[in-house]
Amino acid sequence: MNCRLMVKMNFSGVTRLLDQTPGMQSSIYEPAFLQASIEKRLQETGCGSVEEYCGYWEQNPVEEQILRASLHNHFSEFFRDPLTFAILECSVLPELIQKKKNDKRSEIRIWSAGCAAGQEPYSLAILLEEALGNYHPGMTYRIFATDVDETQLNEARLGYYPAAALGKLSLKRAETWFTWQGGGYVVKDALKNNINFSTFDLIQEERGSPPASIFGDFDLLVCCNLLIYYQPETRALILDRFEHSLARGGTLVAGAAERRVVLAHHFREVYPQAAIFQLNRATRKPT
Ligand SMILES: C[S@@+](CC[C@H](N)C(=O)[O-])C[C@H]1O[C@@H](n2cnc3c(N)ncnc32)[C@H](O)[C@@H]1O
Repeated sequence: MNCRLMVKMNFSGVTRLLDQTPGMQSSIYEPAFLQASIEKRLQETGCGSVEEYCGYWEQNPVEEQILRASLHNHFSEFFRDPLTFAILECSVLPELIQKKKNDKRSEIRIWSAGCAAGQEPYSLAILLEEALGNYHPGMTYRIFATDVDETQLNEARLGYYPAAALGKLSLKRAETWFTWQGGGYVVKDALKNNINFSTFDLIQEERGSPPASIFGDFDLLVCCNLLIYYQPETRALILDRFEHSLARGGTLVAGAAERRVVLAHHFREVYPQAAIFQLNRATRKPT
């Protein structure tokens, strides 16, 4: 039987079950992604139809958590999009450091939103360490790294990765910023000390440990490969929050597949072909 076709016809039965669980609203997710996630669970549970899966759900209370967790894709990599990280290294960060010096300000504030197990904020910290090094004494940086998933955040705080996870890092960076331990790599404290990991749900902000009010005045806001999983209304809600969290002249970085989504909001692309943006002051809403 064609499972894809079958789920397409009936999967509202599952979304109804999902929506009965506290804090859940399946309509915020991008429909194709939601459907693919349900199909995957059908296959994994060996259920041949949506009806059978609904029965399975009733008999296995843990299924609710499993399906909900599957709605958050956690894939990440160090220096995931090479073009973006090259532009950050060669252009965005040097300009930002110069601007800070001109403004006689000494701290760079960064938000990595949807940081998964830490690969993104640690990559940013490596760039910052290398850019500041001994060249700009007195200049510091702080990265607020947030995710909705506490398990991912615990992994991030641990900072322990299998060797394969460092595939995009040069040997020099791997040796400088990690320690080889027990068959894997551990992030050095020099990076960890500049990062605060905390729970923060970009959609339901009350479900966060730090108050929403600390998320402001960011020079650089990195949110990659998260917006694509949501419906346009939810994306707009998240981008509104980002719009008001950026410092004047601040930069927003998104995933390569999210360029159009961000351009449709109040942002303009500053590096063609890379999803790197600044606020379009002319269209910005008043705060
Ligand atoms: C695909 S990963 C991307 C990780 C990293 N930004 C990257 O590009 O490699 C998406 C992350 O966003 C998180 N996420 C999804 N929805 C979220 C929300 N509403 N609030 C906060 N984090 C969310 C997920 O838990 C997941 O860890």
